Amino acid sequence: MLSEEELKQEIRELASRRGAVILAHNYCRGEVQDVADFTGDSLELARKAAETDADVIVFCGVYFMAETAKILNPSRTVLVPDPSAGCPMADMVTAEQLRALKAEHPNAKAVCYVNSTAEVKAECDICVTSGNAERVMATFPPEQEIIFVPDKHLGGHIAGLLGRTYTLWPGYCPTHASLTAKAIAEARALHPGAPVLVHPECARDVRDAADERLSTGGMCKYARESAAKEIIVGTETGILHRLRKENPEKQFFPVSERTVCPNMKKNTLENLRTSLGEMVTEVTVSEDVSVRARRAIDAMLAI
Ligand code: 13P
Ligand code: SF4
Repeated sequence: MLSEEELKQEIRELASRRGAVILAHNYCRGEVQDVADFTGDSLELARKAAETDADVIVFCGVYFMAETAKILNPSRTVLVPDPSAGCPMADMVTAEQLRALKAEHPNAKAVCYVNSTAEVKAECDICVTSGNAERVMATFPPEQEIIFVPDKHLGGHIAGLLGRTYTLWPGYCPTHASLTAKAIAEARALHPGAPVLVHPECARDVRDAADERLSTGGMCKYARESAAKEIIVGTETGILHRLRKENPEKQFFPVSERTVCPNMKKNTLENLRTSLGEMVTEVTVSEDVSVRARRAIDAMLAI
């Protein structure tokens, strides 16, 4: 069996032979983040995918992220190490359900969180990530009726910030749903004075109990710029690897060690090596869906 270092070396050699760029989400295992060319949040990864001139993109994240990369690069090969790494929240709304909702609200603009399928994006006017949602949604006039899918928490958070009312789809992230305000209070008691950062996918009472509501990229920026030496983090625990690596002089504590996204953890060094070695599993999006979904993604990237 190869050691971790040997596996990483083999992955880097395969990547250069294939002309591949490896992108990893902030929630991936530490060793996958370390071997990747770039680690970031959903928006940063979409921007990287849009900019790359690599022949092959290997996407270590969940399926909708790789689909977004494919939609932005229809002529390039996009691979995922494990095609079963999906996002349960993205699967909580279908294109058919969204079409029915749009029919009930004919004057509404349809907005999707990037955590959605390509088919759902194809039905939307624009998409958002947690890193740009406030900025994107502020471009709509206050009187514009909005349907927001699938995350009721991110949608509710942005509606609250902008003082607006949206029609929210009742989707949510099961991983972030496990975080509680009680766990935040307990973490504060253990680390008095440490600021608490949570992801906007958390429930309202959890968001209210925190000091900052940030995308994973926003958390990395906060950690860099804050004078705080101890920071409490309420999101998927994979991000702790990056926070600790980039800020060795600071201490990071999870609100709960159990905030783990099982799908993100499906990306391993072993299946990443197989992915590059055998050029599997290729992500495909039908041309019709891709063209329509791209309009929503481009509209977001243009802001
Ligand atoms: P970010 O865009 O903040 O990285 O979030 C992605 C995600 O899936 C959060 O659960
Ligand atoms: Fe989806 Fe939640 Fe996992 Fe993010 S953490 S990929 S929203 S299930």
